[in-house]
Amino acid sequence: MIVRTPPMGWNSWNTFGRNIDEKLIMETADAFIENGLLEAGYNYLVIDDCWAEMQRDENGRLVPDHIKFPHGMKYVADYVHSKGLKFGMYSCAGSLTCAGYPASFEYEFIDAETFASWGVDYLKYDYCFRPMNQQGHALYKRMGLALANCGRDICFSACSWGVDRTNEWIKQTGAHLWRSTGDINDSWASVKQLLEKQTEYFTTNGQGCFNDMDMLIVGMHGKGNVAVAGCTDEEYRTHFSAWAFLGSPLMIGCDIRNMDEVTKSILLNKEIIAINQDGAYRQPFDCGNHWWAQDVKVWAKFLEGGDIAVGVFNLSDGPADPFFSFDTLGIDRVSGKALEIRDIWKGETLGVFKDVFRTEHIAAHTCKMYRCKVVDAK
Ligand code: GLA
Repeated sequence: MIVRTPPMGWNSWNTFGRNIDEKLIMETADAFIENGLLEAGYNYLVIDDCWAEMQRDENGRLVPDHIKFPHGMKYVADYVHSKGLKFGMYSCAGSLTCAGYPASFEYEFIDAETFASWGVDYLKYDYCFRPMNQQGHALYKRMGLALANCGRDICFSACSWGVDRTNEWIKQTGAHLWRSTGDINDSWASVKQLLEKQTEYFTTNGQGCFNDMDMLIVGMHGKGNVAVAGCTDEEYRTHFSAWAFLGSPLMIGCDIRNMDEVTKSILLNKEIIAINQDGAYRQPFDCGNHWWAQDVKVWAKFLEGGDIAVGVFNLSDGPADPFFSFDTLGIDRVSGKALEIRDIWKGETLGVFKDVFRTEHIAAHTCKMYRCKVVDAK
Protein backbone atom coordinates (compact mmCIF):
# COMPACT_ATOMS: atom_id res chain seq x y z
CA MET A 1 0.00 0.00 0.00
CA ILE A 2 1.33 3.43 -0.91
CA VAL A 3 -0.05 6.52 0.82
CA ARG A 4 0.50 9.53 -1.43
CA THR A 5 -0.75 12.41 0.70
CA PRO A 6 -0.85 12.93 4.48
CA PRO A 7 -3.78 11.08 6.10
CA MET A 8 -6.67 13.24 7.29
CA GLY A 9 -9.26 12.28 9.87
CA TRP A 10 -10.15 12.26 13.55
CA ASN A 11 -8.66 10.50 16.58
CA SER A 12 -10.36 9.94 19.93
CA TRP A 13 -7.40 10.62 22.22
CA ASN A 14 -7.14 14.41 22.55
CA THR A 15 -10.67 14.95 23.76
CA PHE A 16 -11.91 11.60 25.04
CA GLY A 17 -8.89 9.66 26.35
CA ARG A 18 -10.22 6.51 27.96
CA ASN A 19 -13.88 7.67 27.77
CA ILE A 20 -14.66 6.04 24.45
CA ASP A 21 -17.49 3.73 23.46
CA GLU A 22 -19.54 2.52 20.53
CA LYS A 23 -22.09 5.32 20.80
CA LEU A 24 -19.42 8.04 20.68
CA ILE A 25 -17.74 6.45 17.66
CA MET A 26 -20.99 6.05 15.73
CA GLU A 27 -22.12 9.60 16.51
CA THR A 28 -18.68 10.84 15.45
CA ALA A 29 -19.02 8.97 12.15
CA ASP A 30 -22.36 10.75 11.60
CA ALA A 31 -20.74 14.10 12.46
CA PHE A 32 -18.07 13.61 9.77
CA ILE A 33 -20.83 13.62 7.17
CA GLU A 34 -23.11 16.27 8.72
CA ASN A 35 -20.26 18.78 9.02
CA GLY A 36 -18.79 18.21 5.56
CA LEU A 37 -15.55 16.77 6.94
CA LEU A 38 -15.56 13.74 4.66
CA GLU A 39 -16.24 15.95 1.68
CA ALA A 40 -13.26 18.12 2.64
CA GLY A 41 -10.98 15.07 2.70
CA TYR A 42 -11.08 13.87 6.32
CA ASN A 43 -11.77 10.18 5.96
CA TYR A 44 -10.08 8.23 8.78
CA LEU A 45 -11.94 7.73 12.06
CA VAL A 46 -9.40 6.38 14.56
CA ILE A 47 -10.02 4.89 18.01
CA ASP A 48 -6.94 5.46 20.18
CA ASP A 49 -5.88 3.67 23.38
CA CYS A 50 -8.22 2.13 26.02
CA TRP A 51 -10.57 0.14 23.76
CA ALA A 52 -9.57 -3.37 24.89
CA GLU A 53 -10.25 -5.80 27.69
CA MET A 54 -7.25 -6.23 30.01
CA GLN A 55 -6.78 -9.88 28.97
CA ARG A 56 -6.43 -11.56 25.60
CA ASP A 57 -8.77 -14.48 24.86
CA GLU A 58 -7.79 -18.16 25.05
CA ASN A 59 -6.42 -17.98 21.50
CA GLY A 60 -4.22 -15.03 22.32
CA ARG A 61 -6.42 -12.52 20.51
CA LEU A 62 -7.18 -9.01 21.64
CA VAL A 63 -10.75 -8.53 22.87
CA PRO A 64 -12.72 -5.27 22.71
CA ASP A 65 -14.01 -3.99 26.06
CA HIS A 66 -17.44 -5.62 26.50
CA ILE A 67 -19.00 -2.60 28.11
CA LYS A 68 -17.61 0.06 25.77
CA PHE A 69 -18.03 -1.99 22.58
CA PRO A 70 -20.80 -4.54 23.32
CA HIS A 71 -21.23 -5.55 19.66
CA GLY A 72 -17.50 -5.91 18.99
CA MET A 73 -15.29 -3.98 16.58
CA LYS A 74 -16.49 -5.43 13.27
CA TYR A 75 -19.89 -3.93 14.05
CA VAL A 76 -18.35 -0.50 14.66
CA ALA A 77 -16.12 -0.79 11.57
CA ASP A 78 -19.12 -1.75 9.42
CA TYR A 79 -20.98 1.33 10.60
CA VAL A 80 -17.99 3.59 9.95
CA HIS A 81 -17.55 2.08 6.48
CA SER A 82 -21.27 2.49 5.72
CA LYS A 83 -20.68 6.27 5.99
CA GLY A 84 -17.90 6.13 3.41
CA LEU A 85 -15.19 6.51 6.06
CA LYS A 86 -12.15 4.40 6.90
CA PHE A 87 -11.69 2.84 10.31
CA GLY A 88 -8.55 3.11 12.46
CA MET A 89 -7.42 1.50 15.68
CA TYR A 90 -4.49 1.63 18.08
CA SER A 91 -1.91 -0.73 19.54
CA CYS A 92 1.64 -0.50 20.83
CA ALA A 93 5.02 -2.03 20.03
CA GLY A 94 5.76 -2.79 23.70
CA SER A 95 4.24 -5.23 26.15
CA LEU A 96 1.53 -2.78 27.25
CA THR A 97 -0.06 0.25 25.63
CA CYS A 98 0.78 3.67 27.08
CA ALA A 99 -2.39 3.51 29.19
CA GLY A 100 -1.57 -0.02 30.39
CA TYR A 101 -3.73 -2.22 28.14
CA PRO A 102 -2.47 -5.35 26.34
CA ALA A 103 -0.16 -4.46 23.43
CA SER A 104 1.30 -6.25 20.43
CA PHE A 105 4.86 -7.19 21.42
CA GLU A 106 5.31 -10.82 20.29
CA TYR A 107 1.71 -10.83 19.00
CA GLU A 108 2.36 -8.78 15.88
CA PHE A 109 1.13 -11.22 13.23
CA ILE A 110 -1.88 -12.41 15.19
CA ASP A 111 -2.91 -8.82 15.98
CA ALA A 112 -2.50 -7.69 12.38
CA GLU A 113 -4.79 -10.56 11.35
CA THR A 114 -7.31 -9.65 14.03
CA PHE A 115 -7.36 -6.00 12.92
CA ALA A 116 -7.79 -7.09 9.29
CA SER A 117 -10.68 -9.40 10.26
CA TRP A 118 -12.45 -6.48 11.93
CA GLY A 119 -12.08 -4.27 8.84
CA VAL A 120 -9.39 -1.95 10.20
CA ASP A 121 -7.82 0.41 7.63
CA TYR A 122 -5.31 2.29 9.81
CA LEU A 123 -3.19 1.27 12.80
CA LYS A 124 -1.60 3.79 15.14
CA TYR A 125 1.30 1.99 16.80
CA ASP A 126 2.76 3.43 19.99
CA TYR A 127 6.12 2.93 21.72
CA CYS A 128 5.47 2.50 25.47
CA PHE A 129 6.73 -0.46 27.52
CA ARG A 130 9.40 -1.48 25.03
CA PRO A 131 11.27 -4.47 26.52
CA MET A 132 14.80 -3.36 27.46
CA ASN A 133 16.46 -5.87 25.14
CA GLN A 134 14.49 -4.80 22.05
CA GLN A 135 15.33 -2.13 19.52
CA GLY A 136 12.70 0.19 18.10
CA HIS A 137 13.49 -0.44 14.46
CA ALA A 138 13.04 -4.20 14.90
CA LEU A 139 9.69 -3.81 16.65
CA TYR A 140 8.30 -1.52 13.95
CA LYS A 141 9.63 -3.82 11.22
CA ARG A 142 7.76 -6.73 12.77
CA MET A 143 4.44 -4.92 12.72
CA GLY A 144 5.15 -3.34 9.34
CA LEU A 145 5.68 -6.80 7.87
CA ALA A 146 2.69 -8.27 9.69
CA LEU A 147 0.42 -5.54 8.31
CA ALA A 148 1.81 -5.91 4.79
CA ASN A 149 0.91 -9.60 4.97
CA CYS A 150 -2.46 -9.49 6.72
CA GLY A 151 -4.52 -9.50 3.54
CA ARG A 152 -5.91 -5.97 3.94
CA ASP A 153 -4.55 -2.51 3.11
CA ILE A 154 -3.79 -0.95 6.49
CA CYS A 155 -2.12 2.43 6.83
CA PHE A 156 0.68 2.06 9.39
CA SER A 157 0.99 5.07 11.69
CA ALA A 158 4.14 4.75 13.80
CA CYS A 159 4.17 6.66 17.07
CA SER A 160 7.62 6.58 18.65
CA TRP A 161 7.68 10.37 19.21
CA GLY A 162 10.96 10.86 17.29
CA VAL A 163 13.00 9.19 20.06
CA ASP A 164 15.84 6.67 19.52
CA ARG A 165 16.64 8.45 16.24
CA THR A 166 13.38 7.25 14.67
CA ASN A 167 14.04 9.36 11.58
CA GLU A 168 17.06 7.21 10.70
CA TRP A 169 15.17 3.90 10.52
CA ILE A 170 11.45 4.49 10.30
CA LYS A 171 11.30 4.42 6.50
CA GLN A 172 12.74 0.89 6.57
CA THR A 173 9.79 -0.43 8.53
CA GLY A 174 6.79 0.00 6.26
CA ALA A 175 5.37 2.91 8.26
CA HIS A 176 3.33 5.39 6.22
CA LEU A 177 3.67 8.13 8.80
CA TRP A 178 5.74 8.57 11.91
CA ARG A 179 5.36 10.78 14.96
CA SER A 180 8.33 13.12 14.80
CA THR A 181 7.59 14.89 18.07
CA GLY A 182 6.23 14.23 21.57
CA ASP A 183 2.60 14.51 22.63
CA ILE A 184 0.67 17.70 21.98
CA ASN A 185 -1.49 19.33 24.63
CA ASP A 186 -4.10 22.03 24.26
CA SER A 187 -1.91 25.10 24.76
CA TRP A 188 0.04 27.62 22.67
CA ALA A 189 3.27 26.58 24.45
CA SER A 190 2.85 23.04 23.13
CA VAL A 191 2.13 24.20 19.56
CA LYS A 192 5.23 26.38 19.58
CA GLN A 193 7.44 23.68 21.04
CA LEU A 194 6.37 21.04 18.48
CA LEU A 195 6.80 23.49 15.62
CA GLU A 196 10.31 24.43 16.66
CA LYS A 197 11.29 20.80 17.06
CA GLN A 198 9.89 20.01 13.62
CA THR A 199 12.40 22.29 11.90
CA GLU A 200 15.04 19.59 12.60
CA TYR A 201 13.06 17.20 10.43
CA PHE A 202 12.30 19.25 7.30
CA THR A 203 14.65 17.11 5.23
CA THR A 204 13.29 13.79 6.52
CA ASN A 205 9.74 14.46 5.43
CA GLY A 206 8.72 12.71 2.25
CA GLN A 207 5.91 11.21 0.25
CA GLY A 208 4.83 7.78 1.46
CA CYS A 209 6.19 8.23 5.01
CA PHE A 210 5.04 11.54 6.42
CA ASN A 211 6.31 13.38 9.49
CA ASP A 212 3.43 13.38 11.98
CA MET A 213 3.40 16.36 14.34
CA ASP A 214 0.56 14.80 16.40
CA MET A 215 -3.18 15.29 16.39
CA LEU A 216 -4.78 18.72 16.09
CA ILE A 217 -6.07 20.63 19.10
CA VAL A 218 -8.14 23.09 17.02
CA GLY A 219 -11.51 23.68 18.68
CA MET A 220 -10.73 21.98 22.01
CA HIS A 221 -10.92 25.26 23.94
CA GLY A 222 -9.32 23.85 27.07
CA LYS A 223 -11.71 20.90 27.40
CA GLY A 224 -10.88 17.20 27.19
CA ASN A 225 -8.15 14.68 27.81
CA VAL A 226 -5.11 16.75 26.79
CA ALA A 227 -6.59 20.09 27.83
CA VAL A 228 -4.30 22.60 29.46
CA ALA A 229 -4.84 26.31 28.99
CA GLY A 230 -6.59 26.14 25.63
CA CYS A 231 -5.77 28.53 22.79
CA THR A 232 -7.43 31.52 21.17
CA ASP A 233 -9.09 30.99 17.79
CA GLU A 234 -6.19 32.85 16.14
CA GLU A 235 -3.71 30.49 17.80
CA TYR A 236 -5.72 27.50 16.58
CA ARG A 237 -5.66 29.01 13.09
CA THR A 238 -1.85 29.34 13.27
CA HIS A 239 -1.51 25.78 14.56
CA PHE A 240 -3.70 24.37 11.78
CA SER A 241 -1.91 26.41 9.10
CA ALA A 242 1.53 25.29 10.26
CA TRP A 243 0.58 21.60 10.44
CA ALA A 244 -1.01 21.85 7.00
CA PHE A 245 1.94 23.78 5.56
CA LEU A 246 4.55 21.36 6.87
CA GLY A 247 2.70 18.36 5.42
CA SER A 248 1.70 16.78 8.72
CA PRO A 249 -1.27 14.44 8.79
CA LEU A 250 -4.39 16.39 9.76
CA MET A 251 -6.07 14.32 12.47
CA ILE A 252 -8.73 16.34 14.26
CA GLY A 253 -8.76 16.01 18.05
CA CYS A 254 -11.81 18.01 19.15
CA ASP A 255 -15.38 16.76 19.61
CA ILE A 256 -16.64 17.08 16.05
CA ARG A 257 -20.24 16.57 17.20
CA ASN A 258 -20.08 20.00 18.83
CA MET A 259 -17.90 22.33 16.76
CA ASP A 260 -18.50 26.07 16.71
CA GLU A 261 -18.48 28.02 13.45
CA VAL A 262 -14.92 29.33 13.82
CA THR A 263 -13.59 25.82 14.38
CA LYS A 264 -15.38 24.61 11.26
CA SER A 265 -14.09 27.54 9.21
CA ILE A 266 -10.52 26.66 10.23
CA LEU A 267 -10.73 22.90 9.69
CA LEU A 268 -12.65 23.16 6.43
CA ASN A 269 -10.60 25.79 4.57
CA LYS A 270 -10.18 24.15 1.17
CA GLU A 271 -7.16 26.18 0.04
CA ILE A 272 -5.22 25.41 3.21
CA ILE A 273 -6.09 21.72 2.91
CA ALA A 274 -4.94 21.82 -0.74
CA ILE A 275 -1.47 22.93 0.39
CA ASN A 276 -1.34 20.02 2.83
CA GLN A 277 -2.56 17.52 0.24
CA ASP A 278 -0.47 18.90 -2.63
CA GLY A 279 0.40 16.13 -5.08
CA ALA A 280 4.09 17.06 -5.39
CA TYR A 281 4.62 16.90 -1.60
CA ARG A 282 7.87 18.89 -1.59
CA GLN A 283 9.84 19.60 1.56
CA PRO A 284 9.49 23.06 3.08
CA PHE A 285 12.46 25.43 3.36
CA ASP A 286 13.32 28.65 5.11
CA CYS A 287 12.90 31.65 2.80
CA GLY A 288 13.31 34.56 5.15
CA ASN A 289 15.84 33.96 7.84
CA HIS A 290 14.88 36.74 10.22
CA TRP A 291 18.01 36.42 12.31
CA TRP A 292 16.92 39.38 14.44
CA ALA A 293 13.60 37.66 15.21
CA GLN A 294 14.13 33.91 15.53
CA ASP A 295 10.51 33.31 16.52
CA VAL A 296 9.22 34.64 13.22
CA LYS A 297 9.26 31.83 10.66
CA VAL A 298 9.00 32.43 6.92
CA TRP A 299 8.80 29.11 5.10
CA ALA A 300 8.21 28.19 1.46
CA LYS A 301 7.23 25.04 -0.37
CA PHE A 302 7.04 24.31 -4.10
CA LEU A 303 3.66 22.99 -5.21
CA GLU A 304 2.51 20.74 -8.03
CA GLY A 305 2.10 22.77 -11.22
CA GLY A 306 4.66 25.48 -10.36
CA ASP A 307 2.99 27.54 -7.63
CA ILE A 308 4.79 28.30 -4.38
CA ALA A 309 3.23 28.26 -0.92
CA VAL A 310 4.68 30.68 1.62
CA GLY A 311 3.73 30.46 5.30
CA VAL A 312 4.63 33.22 7.74
CA PHE A 313 4.27 32.23 11.39
CA ASN A 314 4.76 34.74 14.16
CA LEU A 315 5.55 32.53 17.14
CA SER A 316 6.83 35.49 19.13
CA ASP A 317 4.87 37.33 21.80
CA GLY A 318 5.02 40.66 19.97
CA PRO A 319 4.02 41.98 16.54
CA ALA A 320 6.23 41.45 13.48
CA ASP A 321 6.68 42.88 9.97
CA PRO A 322 8.34 40.07 8.06
CA PHE A 323 9.21 39.93 4.36
CA PHE A 324 10.64 37.51 1.87
CA SER A 325 12.99 38.08 -1.01
CA PHE A 326 12.12 36.24 -4.20
CA ASP A 327 15.67 35.14 -4.95
CA THR A 328 15.37 32.71 -2.04
CA LEU A 329 12.47 31.16 -3.98
CA GLY A 330 14.42 30.75 -7.21
CA ILE A 331 13.35 34.03 -8.85
CA ASP A 332 16.32 36.30 -9.31
CA ARG A 333 16.11 39.97 -10.24
CA VAL A 334 16.93 39.48 -13.92
CA SER A 335 14.60 36.52 -14.45
CA GLY A 336 11.80 38.69 -15.80
CA LYS A 337 9.43 36.93 -13.42
CA ALA A 338 7.20 38.18 -10.63
CA LEU A 339 4.73 36.63 -8.19
CA GLU A 340 0.98 36.99 -8.08
CA ILE A 341 0.23 36.54 -4.39
CA ARG A 342 -2.98 35.32 -2.82
CA ASP A 343 -3.66 35.68 0.92
CA ILE A 344 -5.52 32.45 1.60
CA TRP A 345 -7.15 33.24 4.95
CA LYS A 346 -8.29 36.61 3.62
CA GLY A 347 -9.56 34.93 0.46
CA GLU A 348 -8.03 37.76 -1.61
CA THR A 349 -5.50 37.97 -4.40
CA LEU A 350 -3.28 40.86 -3.39
CA GLY A 351 -1.67 41.64 -6.76
CA VAL A 352 1.60 41.09 -8.61
CA PHE A 353 4.88 41.79 -6.79
CA LYS A 354 8.50 42.00 -7.87
CA ASP A 355 11.70 41.04 -6.01
CA VAL A 356 10.37 41.22 -2.47
CA PHE A 357 7.10 40.92 -0.57
CA ARG A 358 6.49 42.70 2.70
CA THR A 359 3.64 41.22 4.69
CA GLU A 360 1.09 43.20 6.60
CA HIS A 361 1.81 43.76 10.24
CA ILE A 362 1.43 40.31 11.85
CA ALA A 363 0.18 40.15 15.43
CA ALA A 364 1.72 37.82 18.02
CA HIS A 365 0.84 34.10 17.55
CA THR A 366 -0.85 34.70 14.19
CA CYS A 367 0.13 33.68 10.69
CA LYS A 368 -0.23 34.36 6.99
CA MET A 369 -0.65 31.69 4.34
CA TYR A 370 0.10 32.74 0.77
CA ARG A 371 -0.22 30.94 -2.53
CA CYS A 372 2.08 32.49 -5.13
CA LYS A 373 1.87 32.10 -8.89
CA VAL A 374 4.91 32.75 -11.08
CA VAL A 375 3.99 35.32 -13.75
CA ASP A 376 5.83 37.57 -16.20
CA ALA A 377 6.99 40.84 -14.68
CA LYS A 378 5.42 43.80 -16.48
C1 GLA B 1 0.98 8.10 23.77
C2 GLA B 1 0.74 8.68 22.37
C3 GLA B 1 -0.57 9.47 22.41
C4 GLA B 1 -1.72 8.56 22.81
C5 GLA B 1 -1.43 7.92 24.16
C6 GLA B 1 -2.44 6.84 24.51
O1 GLA B 1 1.23 9.07 24.71
O2 GLA B 1 1.80 9.49 21.99
O3 GLA B 1 -0.81 10.03 21.12
O4 GLA B 1 -1.92 7.58 21.82
O5 GLA B 1 -0.15 7.30 24.18
O6 GLA B 1 -2.17 6.21 25.73
